[in-house]
This record gives sequence, C-alpha cells and structure tokens, in this order.
Amino acid sequence: MIGVFDSGFGGLTILRELRKVLPQYDFLYLGDNARAPYGSRTFETIYRYTLEAVTALFDKGCPLVILACNTASARALRTIQQQDLPHIAPNNRVLGIIRPTAEEIGNISKTGHIGILGTTGTVASGSYPLEIQHFFPNLAVSQQACPLWVPLVENGELNSEGARYFVHQDVSKLLAQDPQIDTVLLACTHYPLLEPLIRLELPSQIALVAQGEIVASKTVEYLKKHPEIDSKLKKNGKTHFFTTDTPEFFEMGASLFGETQIFAESLTF
Ligand code: DGL
Repeated sequence: MIGVFDSGFGGLTILRELRKVLPQYDFLYLGDNARAPYGSRTFETIYRYTLEAVTALFDKGCPLVILACNTASARALRTIQQQDLPHIAPNNRVLGIIRPTAEEIGNISKTGHIGILGTTGTVASGSYPLEIQHFFPNLAVSQQACPLWVPLVENGELNSEGARYFVHQDVSKLLAQDPQIDTVLLACTHYPLLEPLIRLELPSQIALVAQGEIVASKTVEYLKKHPEIDSKLKKNGKTHFFTTDTPEFFEMGASLFGETQIFAESLTF
C-alpha cells in the first residue's frame, strides 16, 4: 500500500487527489490525531512523532510513505531519509510534499512574487524559500505563519467568527509584506478547508494554490520512474484509515474533509 501520513485530518486533502489519479492503488491513511497539531511543536518532537508514524506504516505493509504534512516534511523528512531509512528499511521510500510543490509554484506566478501560508514549524524551517530557490532563483518569496488555523480546522471551525478573524489577520500580514504577490500557496494540508474564507481576503487577481493536485501528479511521475517501488504496491483500489485517536473521532472529523461512510481503526505506537 501507499502510506499517507499527516498529523491529523489535513492529509486527506492530498489523499483525495492521489486517489483520483491512482484509483487502482491501495492506500493506508494514518492521522496522528491524538497528538495533532504538530505545527508549534519543537523540531525534536515532530521528528520523533513522524518517525514513529513512518515505522508504523512500514510495519503495516507500506513500502512507500508520503508525508502529506508540510510540517513533518519540513522538520523530519531529511533526517528520516538520510539517517533512519538506511538502518530500518533500506528498500522502502519516504517522500515529502515540499519539494514537488516548490518545483511547480514558480510556473504559476507572473509577477515573480509569491506568498506562503503555513504552520509556525514550516515557516520557521525556511524549507520553502530554500527549495524554491533551487528551481526559481529569482522568485521573491514571503511567508506568514498561521498558528491557529490547524486547531480551527481540527475542531471543525471552518466558518466561525474566530476563523474569519484569524484568516483576515494572517492573510493581511502576508499581503502587507509584498504588494506584488500574485500567487498565494496554501503550504499546509489543512488549509484547503478554509479556502472560502481565505479567498474572501484576497484581491481577485491573486491566484490561490493548494498542493493536492501538484503532489498527485508528481507521485504519478515518481511511480513511472521507479518501477522497483511500483511493483511492490497493491492495486485493488482500496483505502484503509488509521488514527491514533478513537475511530469515532476520526470518522466524524473526516466527514468534514469529504470522507463520509468510512471505517477507521485505532493504531497505537
Ligand atoms: N497538515 C499539516 C501541514 O501540512 C498541519 C500540521 C499541524 O499539525 O500543525 O503542515
């Protein structure tokens, strides 16, 4: 199976796009809901939690794991790929979602000025400016941390007064950094749920970009280039859902993300 990991429900926005382009593949989604959000936690904690989740996904039969979480991709991916993988599972692969997004984002902007909205961990890591620099050295990148957005989404507050207040505040701060921004990237997999509110705060000429489709098409490319991984993946079109919280909690929250009538199982590390 292809393992898809997020701190909570956000990775479901990536899973949805993956299933559209790879409908024949089997997926195993894992949300660490009991410990979400990750965004404001320390580097060490995010790394430790992510490694536990990746190991659990390997044990469940996922030779390929996608960290469908920018915070985990920013804070844990490189260490897992370079230090841990060679010891724990040298033939397995772990991919993040920052690099594939960075490879594309510069093609969308016309002014060459983009804005990034992400968690405190993602913004503090500097991963987006660094990765984007490789592919688009002349792109001007502004970033804004939105520490309260993930807790709002995890609690189902998608259109509350509080959600509107914090979305207004953080989007205004981003736009104030650079008036030439014409493309805003939702660099957190939870944020597409707040898209209607975010859109209201943006002038119409500014493009709002979510990562799901980009990550999905890059995964298709990856599997074509890596038949040794692709051949290990089951193709029965099934998806299994696991959570570190209770199945009831997960099933209820997942319905906000469009995953209705699913059956979730608990997983403890
Ligand atoms: N969906 C995660 C991301 O893309 C949210 C991280 C969190 O739990 O704060 O960064």
